[in-house]
Amino acid sequence: TGAYRHWWLLRFAGTQWGHGTGTAVLVPLLVQDPARAGLKELEVPRLGHSDVHVKMLAAPINPADINMIQGTYAILAPLPAVAGNEGVGRVLEVGPGVTALRPGDWVIPADAGLGTWRTQAVFPEASLLQVPSDIPLLCAATLSVNPCTAYRMLADFESLAPGDSVIQNAANSGVGQAVIQIAKATGIRTINVVRDRPDLPKLVERLKALGADHVITEDMLRKPEMKEIFKSIPKPRLALNCVGGKSTTEMLRHLQPKGTMVTYGGMAKQPVTVPVSAFIFRDVRLRGFWMTQWKKDHAHDKESLSSMMDTLCQLVQRGQLGAPACTTVPLEDFKEALVASTQPFTSSKQVLLL
Ligand SMILES: NC(=O)c1ccc[n+]([C@@H]2O[C@H](COP(=O)([O-])OP(=O)(O)OC[C@H]3O[C@@H](n4cnc5c(N)ncnc54)[C@H](OP(=O)(O)O)[C@@H]3O)[C@@H](O)[C@H]2O)c1
Repeated sequence: TGAYRHWWLLRFAGTQWGHGTGTAVLVPLLVQDPARAGLKELEVPRLGHSDVHVKMLAAPINPADINMIQGTYAILAPLPAVAGNEGVGRVLEVGPGVTALRPGDWVIPADAGLGTWRTQAVFPEASLLQVPSDIPLLCAATLSVNPCTAYRMLADFESLAPGDSVIQNAANSGVGQAVIQIAKATGIRTINVVRDRPDLPKLVERLKALGADHVITEDMLRKPEMKEIFKSIPKPRLALNCVGGKSTTEMLRHLQPKGTMVTYGGMAKQPVTVPVSAFIFRDVRLRGFWMTQWKKDHAHDKESLSSMMDTLCQLVQRGQLGAPACTTVPLEDFKEALVASTQPFTSSKQVLLL
């Protein structure tokens, strides 16, 4: 069991020493500053009967990770805790009761809250899913949250056929890029809303290269030019919202009557405001989605989970689903990566190399 380095998730204003697994543990008090997370060395626990010893390879920093560190997310780990909900690792060793995993296999978390920002870990087999080890590392590291969310939202709320369209905001987010690629692979057209920025043409070009049909700014949503878009494609039956506030209200204007808007994030930290007329005259449906809840709801339906993962891995292997634009960061530079992950207009996901 060598020593391994651990991220302690500090939701604390100060620290004091307590007991951990043979090493000092930081005991925290609440702060709102992710940059105060710390790196610790701990002993790797002994491998149990159904455990898997994993060398973590890479793990992204997602908005939910930041919200967990800030203490504002819907699930919070008992403290002190290792942060990180997503990532990929390689199996080093398995316990005698492990049935499906072997050394060398690549694994990703089966659910949120695993604590992926570490170099090594011993996890129960049931907390892991195997992914093919021939897919690109960054695809595997970013597969379990955003592509799954994109897949479910495209599949579960409206029965979309090739030629139908979807509108989404924060289209350059990890989820947004997965929506563009999965929609493209299934013949669904996308209208992609992003915030205006100095290098907008570059971003438009990048999203179009992924398969985006239209890329527009939030301001454009109110303009008469929107009519031009709907000369060539139908109005969307599905809108995907992870922003809130004005962006969402404006996006909703373009939804077809009886169409559905799914809210899955709130990056602007503002409520969703819906004009009364949208309910009365267009009977729009407002829904919500949370991948963690979907996994809970389908805990006994392994077939749904494996069918989704197989489909996504096949899209990756066929070159139809790539990792989001990423900046890889050595573990030592985690503080800079945490800060960078909260900056606007970066269009690049920070991924820790472990
Ligand atoms: N419900 C679920 O199950 C689920 C699953 C996955 C993700 N999510 C949520 O989905 C959202 C995106 O996650 P991600 O990992 O894909 O994000 P990401 O790759 O880190 O990208 C963040 C996105 O948010 C945009 N953004 C940030 N602040 C904004 C603001 N004030 N107004 C408008 N846009 C803003 C950024 O746009 P700029 O480039 O303009 O800064 C960027 O497009 C997050 O809210 C996340 O929590 C939810």
